[in-house]
Amino acid sequence: MTTAFIKICNFKYFRIQSVGEFKQRDIDTSMSEEFIKPVAYDEIAPRYDVARPVGRRDEGIWVDLASDFIDPNDTVLDLGCGNGRWIIPFAERLNCHGIGADNSLEMLRLAKNNDAHHLVQWSLQDAEYLSFQDNSFDAVWISHLLHLVQDPIAVTKECFRVLRQDGRILLRYTSLEDNLRMPERQFFPGLIGIDTRRIPPKENVTKWLTSAGFNIVSRAVCVQVYDSAIERLEKARMRVESGLTKLMDEQFRDGIEAFAQYVNEKGNETWLLNDNYVFTVGLKVAR
Ligand SMILES: C[S@@+](CC[C@H](N)C(=O)[O-])C[C@H]1O[C@@H](n2cnc3c(N)ncnc32)[C@H](O)[C@@H]1O
Repeated sequence: MTTAFIKICNFKYFRIQSVGEFKQRDIDTSMSEEFIKPVAYDEIAPRYDVARPVGRRDEGIWVDLASDFIDPNDTVLDLGCGNGRWIIPFAERLNCHGIGADNSLEMLRLAKNNDAHHLVQWSLQDAEYLSFQDNSFDAVWISHLLHLVQDPIAVTKECFRVLRQDGRILLRYTSLEDNLRMPERQFFPGLIGIDTRRIPPKENVTKWLTSAGFNIVSRAVCVQVYDSAIERLEKARMRVESGLTKLMDEQFRDGIEAFAQYVNEKGNETWLLNDNYVFTVGLKVAR
């Protein structure tokens, strides 16, 4: 990793920095919360399926991890379900009753379209104010949502409320620590300030869960691997990662140019291929 950082510092686009030691000037303090938080998923929806496919290997890994906490016939809520790329395989392969909830109509339309066998119910919901009754679900799955909402503790409390006793909350996310190590942060340095303002470190996520009343019962780090550096570059080009949508167009163009130049010259270096995801499970126990 360090070697890779030294190499990319040859480009004029990069400041010399290493993970965790970026300078204050990398953080654009003029960016307000209002600018950082909401992401226009209705606009992203048309590109989401292509930019965020789940390969058989990754699907297998996550279905397998989730299967320890989801039983057949369980009622499972996928909160911030996006295009349904998780709840559809859970319903198919774990034989649970799936409910996919999102606050973007366009993402829900996409999800419904992807649900060829009509296995899942789809619901327009704001994660901070769920309309479901107390004790409705056996498990709640959340992938990449908490950094997008205004009040993550309100969301974890809502999950606690709608879960039955012994219900599980399953969280899949990239932490701030891991985000800052992602290659895109080197090619698009503006992302560092954006991440720092909105992506939670692992410690915060744990606090959000425990302050809602959950007991943490499992935590794992899962490595997802890109097939090639070109694949990663092409996904960045689609600008689906929410942080990339927050960059100015010029910053985005410069970053893509630098990324493409690097990939052309160096090919499939390992640091371009691997991403860490955290999987944390909380249990609702009697208070
Ligand atoms: C990064 S995408 C992740 C989608 C999906 N969970 C996945 O892993 O592919 C975040 C999703 O959360 C939804 N979302 C954002 N804020 C929300 C909120 N307050 N309530 C419900 N959904 C929300 C977005 O519309 C989007 O579909």
